[in-house]
Amino acid sequence: MLAGIPVIQMSQIKREYRMDVKNDVVVRALRGVDFFAQEGEFVSVMGPSGSGKSTLMNILGCLDKPTSGTYTLDGIETSKSNSDTFAYIRNRKIGFVFQSFNLLARTTALENVELPLFYRQKEKNKSLNKKDRAIAVLNEVGLGDRMDHFPSQLSGGQQQRVAIARAMVNDPAFILADEPTGNLDTGMTLEIMGLFQQLNNKGKTIIMVTHEPELAVYTKRIITLRDGKLVSDKPVLNRRNAADDLVQWNNTHFRDGSCGSW
Ligand SMILES: Nc1ncnc2c1ncn2[C@@H]1O[C@H](COP(=O)(O)OP(=O)(O)OP(=O)(O)O)[C@@H](O)[C@H]1O
Ligand SMILES: [Mg+2]
Repeated sequence: MLAGIPVIQMSQIKREYRMDVKNDVVVRALRGVDFFAQEGEFVSVMGPSGSGKSTLMNILGCLDKPTSGTYTLDGIETSKSNSDTFAYIRNRKIGFVFQSFNLLARTTALENVELPLFYRQKEKNKSLNKKDRAIAVLNEVGLGDRMDHFPSQLSGGQQQRVAIARAMVNDPAFILADEPTGNLDTGMTLEIMGLFQQLNNKGKTIIMVTHEPELAVYTKRIITLRDGKLVSDKPVLNRRNAADDLVQWNNTHFRDGSCGSW
């Protein structure tokens, strides 16, 4: 079998927090994690509270550097990069999706999505039409008819779609989602998981931190952390289809003919 294109290559990642230099109190949040992901993967990161998920996310997202170990993202060795390169990698290679959407309130959906493209102004890329690119991704997430709406005029699920469009607009190496449906009801959760599956089917690599096993079944692979170590790495057998589950959920909840939230 041909090997896929490596997007994430983490080798022996350790992250220690030195709490008290005198007494040498050290919290070992990650104790030598090896994690590799190829283009087109859809991975859940799971584990109990305190196991190191956020610490791993911060390193994956180039928000933090490991104490030791190497992390190569899309062929770039991040640990050796200076702060400018590190920021460039974070802005261009990673699309972040958070539980709380993090949209700018007084800014339309279209402007929210355009925002990451303005950081690219320094690059001499005249061919990039920012507005066209933002419109294209908003259409891709099914919000072509809501582009001029402000976040307050959108449902939670629609706001998360805008956030996903914003994460996609720079065509990142992967999407890093942190409990992306934590603020959404069941219907909207299935809608967002369906959108992730749709984007993943088109080849987008997605890494998602989740506490919920019932969400992990929509991904393709589950890695589990415990006490700072990767203790399990398994493919999802019997993977579920979120669009089908949404139809079924609608049938059972809106049989009376009333409208759903979308
Ligand atoms: N800035 C910090 N300083 C010191 N210790 C920290 C820091 N951040 C995290 N830790 C410790 O590192 C370990 C892993 O924390 P982390 O936040 O990565 O866990 P988590 O898996 O995300 O947990 P949760 O599910 O509760 O969010 C914990 O023992 C935590 O107390
Ligand atoms: Mg956490």
